[in-house]
Amino acid sequence: MNRLFAGLYARLALAFATLFFIVGFAFLALTNWSNNRYYQEITQNMNKSLAMYIAQREPLIHNGIVNDRAMKDLGSLVMVVNPIVEVYLIDTQGKILSYAVPKNTLVRTHVATKPIQTLLSSKQPYPITGDDPRALNSDRIFSAFPVTDGSTTAGYLYVILGGQSYQTLTQSIRSSYIVQQSLAGLVALTLFAIASALLIFAALTSPLRKLAKAMNEFQLNELKSPTLKPNEGDEISYLSATFSAMRQRINEQLEKLQETDRLRRELISNVSHDLRTPMSSMQGYLEMLMRPSITAQERKSYIEIAYKHCNRLTQLVIELFELSKLDAGRINPNYENFSLAELLQDVAQKFSLTAKQKNIYIATPESSHLFMVNADIGLIERVLENLIDNALRYTPKGGKIKLSLSQQKNQVEVGIQDTGIGLTEDDLPHIFERYYRGQKPTEYQQQSTGLGLAIVKRILELHNSVISVESQLNRGTCFKFPLPIVQQHKAA
Ligand SMILES: Nc1ncnc2c1ncn2[C@@H]1O[C@H](COP(=O)(O)OP(=O)(O)O)[C@@H](O)[C@H]1O
Ligand SMILES: [Mg+2]
Repeated sequence: MNRLFAGLYARLALAFATLFFIVGFAFLALTNWSNNRYYQEITQNMNKSLAMYIAQREPLIHNGIVNDRAMKDLGSLVMVVNPIVEVYLIDTQGKILSYAVPKNTLVRTHVATKPIQTLLSSKQPYPITGDDPRALNSDRIFSAFPVTDGSTTAGYLYVILGGQSYQTLTQSIRSSYIVQQSLAGLVALTLFAIASALLIFAALTSPLRKLAKAMNEFQLNELKSPTLKPNEGDEISYLSATFSAMRQRINEQLEKLQETDRLRRELISNVSHDLRTPMSSMQGYLEMLMRPSITAQERKSYIEIAYKHCNRLTQLVIELFELSKLDAGRINPNYENFSLAELLQDVAQKFSLTAKQKNIYIATPESSHLFMVNADIGLIERVLENLIDNALRYTPKGGKIKLSLSQQKNQVEVGIQDTGIGLTEDDLPHIFERYYRGQKPTEYQQQSTGLGLAIVKRILELHNSVISVESQLNRGTCFKFPLPIVQQHKAA
C-alpha cells in the first residue's frame, strides 16, 4: 500500500481526476448556456406578435408627433399584464422617441435597427437579440412592429422581453437555488466518479504492482542488477528494466549453456580418445605378450610399455573423478594447521627423482620460517603436485624450478616458477579450463590431460584463494597463489 500513491496508479488517478473536473465544468457551462438559449427561443416565439397587438391599439404617432399619453397608458397596462416587458417607441433610425419605463434608467439614446429588420423579415430562427436601452453591453430578445403615421412607416414599437426586472430576478435565482443544486450535484458526481475510478485503478493496477514488486525483488536478488531504485519510475519502467535484465541474463546463461555443451562434447571425444589410445596399445602389448615366441628382452619391454599406459589410464580416471567431485561440491575441505614450508619440501622431495632424470634443479625456500596455514593439507598437496608436475613437464632438460614462500601482510604467497617453454598470449586465459591443453610442441604433448590446472583452480576456490599466472614464451612461467597465515606459536 505504501506505493499506492506513487507510480502508475497515481498518474492514472491524477489524469482521470483532472479529466473529470474539466468535463464536469464544461458540461455545467454547456447546460447553462443551452438553458438560456432555450428560454429565449420559447419566450421570443410566444411573444412574437406582442408588439403588433400593442401597436395596433391606437395610433402612436400622428402627423409626426408622438402620442406620449398613449405610450404612458401602454406602459402601465403592459407592466400590469407582464412585468418583464419594457416598451419603447423608436424612429426608423433607431432613435428612442418615447418609452414606458421609469425615467433616468436609460443608458442609450439609440438602438440598432438591424435586429428589428431581421426579426420582421423572419429570415433567422429564434432567438434574435437586440440592444437593451437600459444596459450598455447586453443583448435581449425582443418583439417589434412597424408604427405607421398615415401610410408611411414612422418608426417601430420595440418591446424588450425579459428586461431589467427579469434579469435581476434570474440573477438572484442563479446565485441561489438551481445552480447551487446542480453545482453541488456536479461536485458530488465528480467526487463519486473519482472515488470509483480510484478504486477501479487500484484493483486494476494491483496485480501489475505486485508483479513489478516481485520482478524488482527478482532483479535485485537473482539477477543482482539494481537498474532501478525503489522510488524511481513507475511499475512499467520496473517491468521493462527487469525484462531487459532478464533477457540479458537469459542470453548470458544460454551462452554459458552452449559453452558447457561444447565442452561436454569435447570432453566426451577427448575422454574416449584419451582412454582408447592407452587402452588399445595396452591391449596390443598384452596380445604380443601372449605369443609363445617372444624373447625375455621383448617380454620385459612390452610389460613396461603396457604398465606405462596403464598408469596413464589410471591417472586420467583419477583426475576425472577428482574434478567431477570438486565440481559437484562433494569435497568439503578438512581444515587443519600445518606448515606450508614443510609441505613444500615434502612435495619437492617426491619429484626429486624425475627432476634428476631430466637434469632439472628444484630450488626450495631456504628460510626456517614455517609459514603455518589453516587449510586442507591433502588438497593443497594436490595443488603443489600438479603445479610442480607441470613445471617439470613443460621445462626442457637442464632447466630450473624455483619454489618460493613470501609473507605479505597476513598471507603467504606460494610461487612456482620455471624456466620452461612458457605460454602463448592465446593460451594464457584458457589454461585453467578443463581439457585445455594449449598449443605446445609435440614432445610435450604426451601424458597430458588438460585437467591438472582445472583441479588446482577448483581446490583454491574452495580455500577462497585465487591462482594467478605470468608467462613468457620460451622463457618460463610463474604460478602464484596466496593462503592466509595463522597466528604462529614459536614452540610449534
Ligand atoms: N609450467 C607450465 N609451463 C608451460 N605451460 C604450462 C605450464 N603449466 C601448464 N601449462 C599449459 O597449460 C596446459 C594445462 O595444464 P594442465 O591443466 O596441468 O594439463 P596437462 O598438464 O595435463 O596438459 C598444459 O597443457 C600446458 O599447455
Ligand atoms: Mg598438468
